[in-house]
Amino acid sequence: MSLPAHFPELKAISAELKPALASETIAIGFIAAQNSDQLTKGSEKSEKEFKLVGSSLLHKSIAETFGIDILDELKFFAPTGKAGESFELPISAPDAKVERLLLVGLGDQSLAAFRAAGATVGRKVKGKPQSITSFCATSDATAHAHAISATMGAYLWNLKSGPKPLKPTIAISSSAVALKRAGAIAAAVWRARDLVHTPANIKTPAWMASNAKAIAKERNISIKVLAGKDLIPFGGLNAVGNSSRKSPPRFIEITYAPKGSSNWPHVVLVGKGITFDTGGYSMKRPYDMMMAMKTDMAGAAAVLSVISALPELAPRVRVTALLMCAENAVSATAQRPSDVITHFGGTTTEVLNTDAEGRLVLADGLAYADLKLKPDYLIDIATLTGSATLGLGRQYAAMYSRDAKLVENLYEIGLESGDRVWQMPLIDDYVDSLESDIADINNTADKGDYNAGSVTAALFLEKFVGERKWVHFDIAGTGRSEVDAGENPKGGTGFGVRLLTTWICSI
Ligand code: BES
Ligand code: MN
Ligand code: ZN
Repeated sequence: MSLPAHFPELKAISAELKPALASETIAIGFIAAQNSDQLTKGSEKSEKEFKLVGSSLLHKSIAETFGIDILDELKFFAPTGKAGESFELPISAPDAKVERLLLVGLGDQSLAAFRAAGATVGRKVKGKPQSITSFCATSDATAHAHAISATMGAYLWNLKSGPKPLKPTIAISSSAVALKRAGAIAAAVWRARDLVHTPANIKTPAWMASNAKAIAKERNISIKVLAGKDLIPFGGLNAVGNSSRKSPPRFIEITYAPKGSSNWPHVVLVGKGITFDTGGYSMKRPYDMMMAMKTDMAGAAAVLSVISALPELAPRVRVTALLMCAENAVSATAQRPSDVITHFGGTTTEVLNTDAEGRLVLADGLAYADLKLKPDYLIDIATLTGSATLGLGRQYAAMYSRDAKLVENLYEIGLESGDRVWQMPLIDDYVDSLESDIADINNTADKGDYNAGSVTAALFLEKFVGERKWVHFDIAGTGRSEVDAGENPKGGTGFGVRLLTTWICSI
């Protein structure tokens, strides 16, 4: 199975020193606890007590091989012990390649802490032809989280013409099975990030389709791509996408349905795939707001990448991904504010703002899924509204659903996987914001001045989901990072890949 370019070599190792001697860096986890004895004695300065995490046999052989007292070093440097915090000690031994011991804080030893530590480990070897062996993880669950975050921390992407970045090796103390699954999810996160980082002059909807076709061919899964006249029933996708003559729209349907899967539960994932969002005639202002809009296909990138990982993860669930790909450009063929369009299934929308284009393309995908695919679960994921970021910032995605059980599951899986989501309400009182004098609904959804852009956008989408068990994720905040820190590079985060793969495997 081909991996994204520069994807690290990921290896499972046992908690023994010998294989680690061939890597440049060894990482060991530690925790810091306040020494309560000292406190009760009323000492002015409470001293921290440090503990190494993992096999004490391993710690002993590190101490002996490199002639070093790690606890003494910790006492001397007195780190806080915060998850992901780290410092390095130079070490060496005859016949060992090892140059450094990286001591990594494991905070409260939660999965989130193992993820933060993983990102630190990955960042150490990012773009370097070096290898790091991390002994931080102590179980399959912690190794899984730690390994995915390590590869996420090692992520990089650019189109510089100079020497290409080199491939690091990341070895994690883990069972081979746990690491194989982690590797499949991590590669999918990388794939999503690569798609999001690619600029819009390259990633036209047709380019998205050829990428999806390559993935489908390699994974032996089926794919259907619609273009041109075949898109006429998809009034939203057509109206938005025909704004660009050079990069016309594509409807991409890709299905994971192994032999014997006809009775399995069926999930449909719909992703917003706006390859660039100028806003159309309702142009984005100030123009700086446009700069990040090559990332407006992060939802489509996530669902395609999720599908790409499924053959390896092998869940007993049928999954169809619908990528609604279009560019929202300004041209003589662009839609006008005040146009009325007809979506798949017949609902009409008065387009009052051409910058509220995401819901127009998603509406067709959701209606198509409801009417043609009849799924058990219908999920959409989209960089839909600036308001979602206003409400929740960049760490949590907004989640909308009427299904309390699904909401609870997805919330928990968010915490477990690292792609965190928070339920927002579908406020029925705001539905009248969608009213239109001349069509079934309007797309601006601001009648009544409720000032709840993410909520009313979700209410718009709900008009197209029939009676399905439906969840909408607004990832406008989480799909892109403004800073290069922790697990995320500056740019596409691959948000949703961990959440959706983990959820699908739990059904
Ligand atoms: N793609 C944008 C939403 C967005 C904004 C994503 C910032 C990421 C960062 C979406 O198409 C949009 O323009 N939404 C409008 C809707 C409004 C015109 C009703 C918004 O949120 O302002
Ligand atoms: Mn827009
Ligand atoms: Zn958009």
